[in-house]
Amino acid sequence: MAQISAGTDEMKCAASVAAVEEVRDGMIVGLGTGSTARHAIEAIARRIAEGLRIEPVATSHATADFAASLGIPVRDFASFAAIDLAIDGVDEIDPALRAIKGAGGAMLREKIVATAATRMLAVADSSKLAEQLGNRPVPIEILPFAQAFVEHRVRDLGGEPALRRTMAETPFVTDQANFVLDAHFASIEAPGALAAALDACPGILAHGLFLTEIDALYVAGHDGVSRRER
Ligand code: 5RP
Repeated sequence: MAQISAGTDEMKCAASVAAVEEVRDGMIVGLGTGSTARHAIEAIARRIAEGLRIEPVATSHATADFAASLGIPVRDFASFAAIDLAIDGVDEIDPALRAIKGAGGAMLREKIVATAATRMLAVADSSKLAEQLGNRPVPIEILPFAQAFVEHRVRDLGGEPALRRTMAETPFVTDQANFVLDAHFASIEAPGALAAALDACPGILAHGLFLTEIDALYVAGHDGVSRRER
C-alpha cells in the first residue's frame, strides 16, 4: 500500500482518486459536495480530459459551479429517475458504513442523489472514522415555518438543536431556501430509530443520517487508501 506522508487534504485527495477509478464510460455520475468531493470532481475532470464520457449531476449549486469551472458540463438531475454512481464525502462514518453528512448543508440533494444511485461511494480521510455515530451534530434541513415546532420535537428525541448561522450571524440558507438545525445528541444508540423519527416529523425536509445509502467507503490514512464494502 502506498504511504501518504502529508496531511488530511492529501488523504482526501487519495481516497477520492481511488474512488473515481470506479467511474466508467457512459455512466450518470452524482457529484457530491464538500472539500473531499471536490477532489473527486477534479479527478473526474482529469479523466474527462483523457477521453472519459459521462453525464454528471450535482448535489448542490456550489458543486455545479465548481464542476463548470473545471469545464465539466453538469446535467439537470431533475430529468433523471436513477443514476449509476454517486461519490460524496461524509462528516462521520461507522464500521457499518452508516454516516452523518450535511456539514456543508447539502444533505437534502445529497440524499436524493445517493438514493437514486445504483452505487454510492463515500470518500474520506481517516479522521472521519467513528466507532459510534454522534460525535458530530446531525444536520437537519427544516422549513423555516416549522422552526420552533421541529426544535421542540428534536429536544423530545434527546437532541439539542442549534440554528446554523453564517459568519454574519444570519441564518444559513440552503439551496432550497430552507434553514438548518444542527442537532447535538449525547450519543446515538439507535440511529435507525432516530432516523425514522426525524423522517416522520413534518417540517423536516431531510436529515444527515445516511444509514443505508452508502455501498462502499474509500478511506485514506497514513498507510494509504483502503476500501470497505457494505
Ligand atoms: C455536505 C456534506 C459533505 O460531504 C461533508 O460535510 C464532508 O465535507 P468535507 O469533505 O468538506 O469534510 O455532507 O453537505
